[in-house]
Parts: sequence; structure tokens; C-alpha cells
Amino acid sequence: MIPVGGPSLGREEFGNLVEAFVSGWISSKGPFVGRFERLVAAYCGVRHAVSASNGTAALHLALKALGIGPGDEVIVPALSFISTANVVSYCGARPVFVDSHPDYWCMDPGLVQESITRRTKAIIPVHAYGHPCDMREIMRIARDFRLRVVEDCAEAIGSRYRGRMAGSFGDVGCFSFYANKTVTTGEGGMCVTNDRKLADKISVLKNYGMSPGRRYWHDVIGFNYRMTNLQAAIGVAQMRKANSFVRRKREIAKAYGERLSGVVGITLPKEMPWAKSSFWMYSVLVERKFGTGRDTLMKSLSKNGVETRPLLQPINLMPPYRTKNRFPVAESLSKRGVSLPSGVDLSERDLEKVCRRVANAGK
Ligand SMILES: Cc1ncc(COP(=O)(O)O)c(C=O)c1O
Repeated sequence: MIPVGGPSLGREEFGNLVEAFVSGWISSKGPFVGRFERLVAAYCGVRHAVSASNGTAALHLALKALGIGPGDEVIVPALSFISTANVVSYCGARPVFVDSHPDYWCMDPGLVQESITRRTKAIIPVHAYGHPCDMREIMRIARDFRLRVVEDCAEAIGSRYRGRMAGSFGDVGCFSFYANKTVTTGEGGMCVTNDRKLADKISVLKNYGMSPGRRYWHDVIGFNYRMTNLQAAIGVAQMRKANSFVRRKREIAKAYGERLSGVVGITLPKEMPWAKSSFWMYSVLVERKFGTGRDTLMKSLSKNGVETRPLLQPINLMPPYRTKNRFPVAESLSKRGVSLPSGVDLSERDLEKVCRRVANAGK
């Protein structure tokens, strides 16, 4: 089976992991944690990075540090992974969904402004599938309405908006290092920010709310959301490869684009002129003209040894978040979209095979 993704781990990761293991620093203290944080901060071009146990924890910490609480509303895209909405609920606040932009699938800034009420406190733009949001517009709206911005960069390490790294625009940028992400630590997350006070708050909150200068004294209710030295050991080795991983993802996207552009009924993902996508997952849309539906294509590929994933489902359709409002673009993208094998270790031969199988399935 050609896998849809997966980690690319080598000797460097293994070497670091063994070093951490042998040193006995296997919990959240240990030299790799700080090293990993510094590497991510430098990569994103921001001053501070605070690691977390996973991407969901990072988002939760960011919202908590910004003071999001009961009665508040936070604008999120309908088309995202469930964590983007759940972290708002964890704070006792309410996620307000907005539809996707049809060309690049992230939240449509035109619709963000319409969704603002007196209760709105923050926006969480999600750089979906590695394509950045229109950050100039989103930051303008945030400034005009005095809203906080937490960028959900779980799928977007290495993505750029007008030359600048995703994660460096908002009050906080949050990353996930789950095993299917471009850079992985198995499970893991990170908050990046240029605001020293916010970074300090996040550090306290992730460590049970323990006062930095006073052991076993807690001024706030915190969490245990810490990354282990073992995870960070893998992360340090992965960050040294981040540029080459993103380069490879873009090469894969280019190769798919060239080979699939002639297939009738397959719409390729667009890259906006201001964007440099990191193409976390190369995802295409299956149109009526293709001949078979998206689900039939996925079954056919699976039978032929190609693993795929459907696009995410709109969060507003799920029981905890069901609303009467409709988000037609997100719903349509979700029904039509399929992610093709996009791991950095995908060989040219396998990529060619995937394209042939896709083309044949539509005949
Ligand atoms: C957009 C988005 N946000 C948040 C997360 C949550 O990250 P984690 O799985 O590390 O908790 C994910 C994926 O896993 C995601 O795709």
C-alpha cells in the first residue's frame, strides 16, 4: 500500500532519542526541550516558542493566556479539524463558524467581518492543508475590531504568506507535531509568539499554573500540557530537516499538478499569488465530470494499493456544534475532496502510479 503520509524518521532522530533515553531525562525537563523551542522560534522568525504536549493543548493554552472565557465568541472556520472548535469550548466560550474561500479553502475574510458581534474576542485562522490564510485581511479586521488572533498552524509549518512564515502574524501561532504532520515528534505541539508576557503566561499555564519563582505555589489553575525531552529529541532532528521536508512537499505538489492537470473532472488545489503553500497533504476535488464519485475513487484506489483520506468534515455538521446556519463552500469541498499520498518519502515511481490509478478510475 502506498501510504497517504507518515513520518520520515532517520538515524538523526534515533541518535537523539537514544541520547535522551540514556541521559535519564525522559520527562519534560532536559536539554532537548529548550533546543527544540529555539529551533522552532528561529524557523518561524519569532522571538519565543513554548512547547506543549500536542497541538490541541497549544491552542488551548493560547486562548487561555489571552483570557478567552465564558460569554466570549471566537471565530473559526467551519472546515477544520475538531480541535479548532473544541479548544474554544474548553474555555467556556462559543465557536462561531465561517465558510471557506472556494479557491484556497481557508476561512473567507469577507465572511469573518460579518460574523463579528459584541461578544467576539478572537479569530482562529487555520492554514488549511498547508495553504496560508489571507493574513493581511484577517489582521486588518482584528485591528479594526480589537480582536486577538491565534493562528492554527497545525497543518502549516513552513507555509508562507507574502514571504513571511505562518505563525508569525497573530498574537500566538500554534503548531502540531503529530505523526502525520510535516515535522513530527509523535505527539507534540508549540506556541510561538513575539510577546514575552504571553509566552511567560503560556509557560506557567502548561506547568500546572506553578509560580515560576515559588515551587508548589499556584496563582492560577493550570494544566499539565508539557512536552517530554524524548519528544523534543526527535523534534530537534526533524527541525534540521524542515526546509528539505517543505521543499519535497512542494516538489510532490508540482509533480501531481503536472500529471493530473489533464484529467477531466479533477480540480487541482490552487496556490494564491500571495501564498507559498507547504502542501501538507496534496488534495484534489472530484467533480461530476470525473465519471465516478469521490468515494468510489477512494475505494478504487484502495483496491489498487493507494491509501487516501477524505477531506475534513465541516465541524458545524457534528452533534456538539450543529447549527441551522449552512456553510455551502465548506460542505461542498468536504464532499468532493480527497488527499493523495503526500509523505516526503513518496518515490517518483509511486507518485506516477497514483496518478495513473486516478486517471484510470475516471474512465
Ligand atoms: C487544523 C488542526 N488543528 C489542530 C490539530 C490538533 O493537533 P494535535 O493532533 O497535535 O492535537 C490538528 C491535527 O491534528 C489540525 O489539523
